[in-house]
Amino acid sequence: MQVWDLEMIYKSLIEKYRKNLAVSDKTPVISLHEGDTPLIPAVNLVKEFGFNGEIYFKFEGMNPTGSFKDRGMTLAVSKAVEAGSKAVICASTGNTSASAAAYAARAGIKCIVLIPEGKTALGKLSQAVIHGAEVLEIYGNFDDALNLVKELSCKYPLTLVNSVNSFRIEGQKTAAYEICENLHQSPDYQFIPVGNAGNITAYWKGYKDYNKTEPKKYALPKMMGFQAAGSAPIVEGHPIAEPETIAAAIRIGNPASWKAAEEARDASGGVIDKVTDEEILEAYRIVAVTEGIFCEPASASSIAGLIKYIRRGYFVNIEPVKVVCILTGHGLKDPNIAFVNAAKPRKVKTNISDIINVIGF
Ligand code: F0G
Repeated sequence: MQVWDLEMIYKSLIEKYRKNLAVSDKTPVISLHEGDTPLIPAVNLVKEFGFNGEIYFKFEGMNPTGSFKDRGMTLAVSKAVEAGSKAVICASTGNTSASAAAYAARAGIKCIVLIPEGKTALGKLSQAVIHGAEVLEIYGNFDDALNLVKELSCKYPLTLVNSVNSFRIEGQKTAAYEICENLHQSPDYQFIPVGNAGNITAYWKGYKDYNKTEPKKYALPKMMGFQAAGSAPIVEGHPIAEPETIAAAIRIGNPASWKAAEEARDASGGVIDKVTDEEILEAYRIVAVTEGIFCEPASASSIAGLIKYIRRGYFVNIEPVKVVCILTGHGLKDPNIAFVNAAKPRKVKTNISDIINVIGF
């Protein structure tokens, strides 16, 4: 069997959803076999919190570069190549740059990324550099970097692949399709982290597409978005000049898709709320320890939001509900945070009795 036959076995995200995406026979498909990520029932969490219903994790950390960005990047880079682009550019807190670098490498074009100096998790940075991107650390935050790449892409032949590029949103909406396909209905609630607000916008678009299918069985879920408390411009109602949070991926003070996120919140009857760094880290540990799932801190903000609303009694006195939490990125992106927040390995002598002593059997 020729290795190329694998393309026949696995359908890239673009092939699978071709009729829902703005592609033609002329679009070269730049794929790393993204999408089709698992929807994992959170059976232990449901028990632990005595939750009245079902909770699922959509584990987007299982994408090829370890985050949801790959869904949007396959389309954005394919369309860039179709348009004859020789280089892509993005601002990033880390995951966008990792994904852009990988897809640009696959396409054989250049990738330039601007990241906030000293704030990018090592896993993400190592991906961008090993894929051969030109990585520029700026003395500023993500919002500064985004303004710069917007201007650069207007003045130079560089294709912007941040989520202001509508192909990113189009590609990312396919995650909502997958959830509907897996559940054979849409969830009642979707909990999701909010940073630059592209992903909540994309999911809402995806659910709206499914809602239009006949016969009607797909209602619209309530979109429950969560920002980190130190970086919560939508919650506070104004841009945050110096956003701060341990969840560096969502350390954003002026989201590009602010209005679209508010639209998703209001039209769905959901909320955009904030969770503290302590709540994020608690959720990050809980999901790792009780469910065996290692997500990055920004992803855990969706679980932190869910736990906060369960404790607050938000789901009391209603029918059993189906909740999906989006886990946007893999925990291995940022192992340092895990080490700071878990028990350290212990050193023991090389004999059985010392080991038994330490493990307490
Ligand atoms: N979770 C993770 C792991 C992220 O990397 C991001 C955004 C988000 C959530 C928020 O998604 O921006 O669509 O609201 N990361 C971007 C980046 C900003 O540059 O990697 P959003």
